[in-house]
Amino acid sequence: MQTKPRVFVTRKLPAAVEARLERDYRPILNAQDKLYSTAETIAGAAGCDALLPCPTDKIDADAVAKLPASIRVIATFSVGYEHIDVNACKTRGIVVGNTPGVLTDATADIAMLLLLGAARGASNGEQTIRTNTWSIWGPTSMLGTHMTGKRLGIYGMGRIGQAVAKRARAFDMTIHYHNRTRLPAGEEQGAIFHAKAEEMLPHCDFLSINAPSSPETNGFLNARRIAMLPDGAIVVNTARGPLVDDEALIAALNSGKLAAAGLDVYTGEPNINPAYRSAKNAFLLPHLGSATVETRNAMGFRALDNLDAFFAGKPLPSRVA
Ligand code: DGY
Repeated sequence: MQTKPRVFVTRKLPAAVEARLERDYRPILNAQDKLYSTAETIAGAAGCDALLPCPTDKIDADAVAKLPASIRVIATFSVGYEHIDVNACKTRGIVVGNTPGVLTDATADIAMLLLLGAARGASNGEQTIRTNTWSIWGPTSMLGTHMTGKRLGIYGMGRIGQAVAKRARAFDMTIHYHNRTRLPAGEEQGAIFHAKAEEMLPHCDFLSINAPSSPETNGFLNARRIAMLPDGAIVVNTARGPLVDDEALIAALNSGKLAAAGLDVYTGEPNINPAYRSAKNAFLLPHLGSATVETRNAMGFRALDNLDAFFAGKPLPSRVA
């Protein structure tokens, strides 16, 4: 009988995913959910055939070079794979898979929560209840910004961007978008394409950032582009922190150039720029985009589908390198 492949798993995974791992592989699990250093991951993976990391693990070129020679495949528990140097993996002949598709709806739902939460001052409102400082209903108190019928710009019209657009149409929003390539008309569904992001920005009462992190997209929302947004615009980010220049966004929130922002992702998370905490017009969530039981199970199963395919000598359902 062939021995089951050995998999080093860097984080504690949902029970159903770990059960499937135990059934089909010889996994090394992380019951305490300890956050391993890169050196600990490299050491822990000794003698393993596969690595199952998360976005919290940095697997840069140096780490790839130091991975045990036995590692032939990396199946990340995430759609984003900027934490892995895929070129270094290609050079070493390590196959890499990710989990696209299964977290589209959960992430688009969080984008809607951020849009509404930022527009309506949800966290301030909730604070008044929790701190028992709600005096009484008032015609001019705690006024937010209307969302229904406004213009939404989407930066990055991939799966998640399109799912945000679909939800926003139910709010009668007019959709503008910028994407590297224009979508076919059937997928555009009336959304207005802008070949340059700068052309789109003046049309955004709301802006949703949905592009992956890359050298081209990082730093996208900087002071120059914020200035192109209408005064009082609202920005939400469910993609990756580095797409936003934190200092520029915080300055725009404090000056009132932007009415509000809703953020689920941050540079350096969980150690976010502390100025966000005191920006009352920022609605802040701790990277909850894919955090539903259903979605986290589906992500784990997709990572295992990638491993199953690899060890069966078949193409990975979601291969990035
Ligand atoms: C991913 O899969 O890249 C997400 O950021 C996890 O929520």
